[in-house]
Amino acid sequence: MNIITAKNAQEASKKAFALVREGVENGTIQTLGLATGSTPLGFYSEMREAKLNVENITTVNLDEYIGLAADDPQSYHYYMENELFNSLNFKASHLPDGMASDLEAECERYEQILNENPVDLQILGLGTNGHIGFNEPGTSFATKTHVVELTKETIDANKRFFERVEDVPTHALSMGIASIMSAKKIILLAFGEAKAEAVQQMVEGAVTEECPASVLQNHPDVTIIIDEAAAGKL
Ligand code: GLP
Repeated sequence: MNIITAKNAQEASKKAFALVREGVENGTIQTLGLATGSTPLGFYSEMREAKLNVENITTVNLDEYIGLAADDPQSYHYYMENELFNSLNFKASHLPDGMASDLEAECERYEQILNENPVDLQILGLGTNGHIGFNEPGTSFATKTHVVELTKETIDANKRFFERVEDVPTHALSMGIASIMSAKKIILLAFGEAKAEAVQQMVEGAVTEECPASVLQNHPDVTIIIDEAAAGKL
């Protein structure tokens, strides 16, 4: 694992963007894996400002809530439109469909998309409980795209985006750990003191399904970009 500690989230986002820009411009990135949450917001702002030429780039997102339509402001579809897709003209962009009537078929459809578009670089955030995508502690490292029941910790962490905690979906569709691990290169971003424990477990702890992000220790090309607060327990 290559660990970069930046002074703050803004500096970290710039470093992540510099790596992505290089890959897009030299052609090594054709498929870019994207994440949601508050962590990548600065990175997306860098992408928008630079007006990168992404017309040959396909994007695939990690996850989506089940039961939220694409035009629901809390959905990850909406988030991505707002943060990136309305501003940059990608060749194609894919997210799991949380409104699919047959969720198992939707998982298979999404895996097919991933097979046809192998991810060159995957951007990841980190849950306070060590989740990546929506792969909660205890998820098998062998999982492909699957239906997830969210933990109380994740629902609590994400309720800030909703009016009431009852509005936070209880289930999601997420790329699995195996789907994420097949990316050629991974950049994980984590900021703030609330992530320090999960960062420490991910980097220095045992590789265990109890901390999904610890699986990244087994990946050949991972860069962790964190701020000083998130690095506080290393
Ligand atoms: C969410 C998302 C993850 C994200 C994580 C951290 O539940 N499914 O992809 O990385 O939680 O969110 P945040 O960046 O808002 O702290």
